[in-house]
Amino acid sequence: MEMIFIFARLYYILLLIFFHVGATDILTPSEAMTDGPTLVSAGDKFEFGFFSPENSENRYLGIWYYRIAPKTVVWVANRNYPLNDSSGILNIVEDGNWILRDHAERILWSTNIQEKSSNQTILQLLDSGNLVLRHGNNGKAGSYLWQSFDHFTDTWLAGMKVGKDSRTGLIRNFTSWKSPNDPSPGPFTYGIRTRGPPTEVVLWKGNSVQFRTGPWNGAGFSGIIVLPNTYFHLDLIVNAEEVHYQVSENSPATLTRTVVSYNGEVHRYVWNSSSLEWLLMYTIPIDPCDNYGECGPNSICTISDASICSCLTGYMPKSPQDWGIGIRSNGCVRKHPLNCTRGEGFLEVKGVKVPDQWVYWRNTTLTLKECQEECLNNCSCTAYASSNISGKGSGCLLWYGDLIDIRRLSSPSNQNIYLRVEAADLGSKKRKQAILVVVACSTAMAMLVLTICSILLKRSKRQVIKPQLNSEGMEDLELPTFEMISIAEATDNFSELNKIGEGGFGPVYKGQMPTGQEIAVKRLSINSHQGLIEFKNEVILISKLQHRNLVKLLGCCIQGEERMLIYEYMPCKSLDNYIYDSTRRKLLTWTRRFDIITGIARGLLYLHRDSRLRIIHRDLKTSNILLDGEMNPKISDFGIARAFGGDQISERTTRVIGTYGYMSPEYVINGLYSMKSDVFSFGVLVLEIVSGRRNRDFCHPDHNLNLLGHAWKLWTEGNVCQLIDQLMDQSVPSSEVERCIQVGLLCVQQLPQDRPTISTVVWMLDSEGTMLLPQPKQPGFYLDRNASKTDYSWGQECPITNDMTITLLDGYDRHFNSIKGND
Ligand SMILES: *[C@@H]1O[C@H](CO)[C@@H](O)[C@H](O)[C@H]1NC(C)=O
Ligand SMILES: *[C@@H]1O[C@H](CO)[C@@H](O)[C@H](O)[C@H]1NC(C)=O
Ligand SMILES: *[C@@H]1O[C@H](CO)[C@@H](O)[C@H](O)[C@H]1NC(C)=O
Ligand SMILES: *[C@@H]1O[C@H](CO)[C@@H](O)[C@H](O)[C@H]1NC(C)=O
Ligand SMILES: *[C@@H]1O[C@H](CO)[C@@H](O)[C@H](O)[C@H]1NC(C)=O
Ligand SMILES: *[C@@H]1O[C@H](CO)[C@@H](O)[C@H](O)[C@H]1NC(C)=O
Ligand SMILES: *[C@@H]1O[C@H](CO)[C@@H](O)[C@H](O)[C@H]1NC(C)=O
Ligand SMILES: *[C@@H]1O[C@H](CO)[C@@H](O)[C@H](O)[C@H]1NC(C)=O
Repeated sequence: MEMIFIFARLYYILLLIFFHVGATDILTPSEAMTDGPTLVSAGDKFEFGFFSPENSENRYLGIWYYRIAPKTVVWVANRNYPLNDSSGILNIVEDGNWILRDHAERILWSTNIQEKSSNQTILQLLDSGNLVLRHGNNGKAGSYLWQSFDHFTDTWLAGMKVGKDSRTGLIRNFTSWKSPNDPSPGPFTYGIRTRGPPTEVVLWKGNSVQFRTGPWNGAGFSGIIVLPNTYFHLDLIVNAEEVHYQVSENSPATLTRTVVSYNGEVHRYVWNSSSLEWLLMYTIPIDPCDNYGECGPNSICTISDASICSCLTGYMPKSPQDWGIGIRSNGCVRKHPLNCTRGEGFLEVKGVKVPDQWVYWRNTTLTLKECQEECLNNCSCTAYASSNISGKGSGCLLWYGDLIDIRRLSSPSNQNIYLRVEAADLGSKKRKQAILVVVACSTAMAMLVLTICSILLKRSKRQVIKPQLNSEGMEDLELPTFEMISIAEATDNFSELNKIGEGGFGPVYKGQMPTGQEIAVKRLSINSHQGLIEFKNEVILISKLQHRNLVKLLGCCIQGEERMLIYEYMPCKSLDNYIYDSTRRKLLTWTRRFDIITGIARGLLYLHRDSRLRIIHRDLKTSNILLDGEMNPKISDFGIARAFGGDQISERTTRVIGTYGYMSPEYVINGLYSMKSDVFSFGVLVLEIVSGRRNRDFCHPDHNLNLLGHAWKLWTEGNVCQLIDQLMDQSVPSSEVERCIQVGLLCVQQLPQDRPTISTVVWMLDSEGTMLLPQPKQPGFYLDRNASKTDYSWGQECPITNDMTITLLDGYDRHFNSIKGND
């Protein structure tokens, strides 16, 4: 009995020894670490030793997750001094530091503590991934002599404090690797900005800011929305000694990390222990509006339509020509200099990331009202906001001069900013809202006219001719010219009440001619410096497009410095107002929808084949389809259209302009547009009209496909009927609808050469089932999240079925962004 007991003890001791040799978490002064054996943390979470990055022969000393494949390195000691062989040795020296040397005894890395108190320090790898240097008998957290958590590389683990410690002066930030196989510091740094309260986290490339989270406003960073999730939470800790930001895992079983990648993106991952893979939870920057100063000064970036930038109220584009073709970096300037004696006030802009370069008023109890007074007191103050938005709002941020890097947030937020504007802008805003309710088509009309103008301005950029304007110059123009006086009469002398829109190039008015005809008048601002020749060329181009499914330019008016374009007025809204609205959608019976689809197809056929020029529209989407009083569709917005001559089939551009969700893969990725890219957009339109869903925002509880992917899935499963809008009248002839869906899927096929021409499409739609249609192949951009981990789609109307879906990043934005970056 006793023998057995002794044996058992011996066995236990042997086991302990064995364990110590096989996997220990401690290096003692009598030991050295060579290339081979490793330390493993007590709970088997992390491993410390020598490794080589993928596709590299170099050896580095580092920390990675234990038993996670592929090897995920979280920390590197000698990132600047790689070993080119396995001669590395890590051991203690007299002063208690641990030092890594190569075969030639060169020091590649050291713990570098100054305090030379003991030569009996040990290294221990903790379960948090922290490698600590401590006295052998003191394992208390606070007493470490050195820890890897103070010396960040590119990975942020739970428990690491990003920020600044005023006691030690230590600034902790992350620096990207140079490339996936080279851990030496790359150009990107992510960390807390130390320019004073409130705190902000910033991504730099060298010294230039790439992205900022916006200041901490008590509830979060003003410019990012991290939805609550079950895996981790983020905390900001601010006190006299330190400012830091840290992530905490909600359970010991969770593994989460943030990495600043070599290409300048910040990714947060969570380990899925059943599928054994890293799930990407979010990426920063999310979309082009996250890029620092994307729209230039005094503008706001909004992810919605083709044009993401707009000037703040009271400002206009600094260079309308550039602005019109999508070059926004010059931003906007005040329309009139502020005169601080004429009843200016403040306009509230809701749900934004507040601009950079704030001045913090060091009185946290200041109310919003008091903050406003502060701003009003100084004529150069351009905006103010609460610095703490919890409760009623308190504290005060003030801005002087240009407002840089404002974005509208895509999820609800209580962060508002108050802009200083002239008295006129305070009033006109109210009036404009009232008009918007009355005049249904105002926004669509304004967009149409504005983008037509942008064609004009775009061309004129090549050569700005000093305008020399009188109506004789227009005599060879086939288009009717209108007298200034009759336009003035029609619009009640350009009355504010008739104003239906205001854009970068001037206001748009609704008018009525003595004949009763309603018109929309675009009055180009005098300072847009449109050259007469270019103006004429463009007006001629547009005026030659005459088709019942295109919006019509009625004429123009040139007198003195004034130049105006006159369009037919569309009394109804654009298609998007119907198709994405669950009430109005019911008004669209199948017959109407089918007529709209064929109408658009005919309009497009005219552009592609029947007009004197071959025109690629490049921005077909529901908001560019206007509806007349009888719901006939009219294609509008030729702002980025291109005319092709002769046998030209496609063209390449380095500036991809269009609308997310409608652009074809070859256009987004290679900048290649052709009639087939219009066909792709048409296919998206067809599927949207049939389903009543928006491609870009589509989401489904069972998968992460977009509308195209969903339609394709249903098609391959033989369930295509499920795509049909449930709100449509019951008497839908399903074979006709299915035929339409098939045409839609043929149009959105991945390869341009597989897509039909628009004349074939018109023929297919007209053939009433007598023609056997080809089988569609897989669509382009169906965005399966599993196919590419960075492709997330996100829908506001969808219930959030799992906490993972934190943010929106789809392939469109990314490509859009990167192509634009190459410009
Ligand atoms: C490693 O680099 C050293 C100089 O840094 C060089 O002398 C040595 O030959 C290299 N060894 C190998 C195996 O390339
Ligand atoms: C540590 O220091 C003591 C004397 O302070 C010395 O006897 C001992 O050899 C040293 N040990 C090592 C590993 O340097
Ligand atoms: C990152 O931190 C280091 C100190 O650890 C500091 O020198 C550097 O300026 C910081 N980088 C940025 C961009 O703040
Ligand atoms: C923000 O305001 C709330 C409520 O007034 C207060 O409880 C909180 O401490 C404030 N936060 C900061 C960071 O000042
Ligand atoms: C984790 O992986 C499992 C198995 O593949 C999967 O069913 C589950 O949905 C994944 N969890 C998340 C949150 O994606
Ligand atoms: C502001 O307006 C007032 C009254 O219109 C005028 O007298 C004054 O000169 C203006 N000041 C500036 C700086 O424009
Ligand atoms: C902060 O502002 C409030 C209200 O204006 C004032 O009563 C208080 O004295 C100020 N506190 C400091 C420290 O200036
Ligand atoms: C207004 O604010 C600016 C910027 O802070 C400052 O330079 C200027 O002196 C202030 N003017 C007055 C009248 O307080």
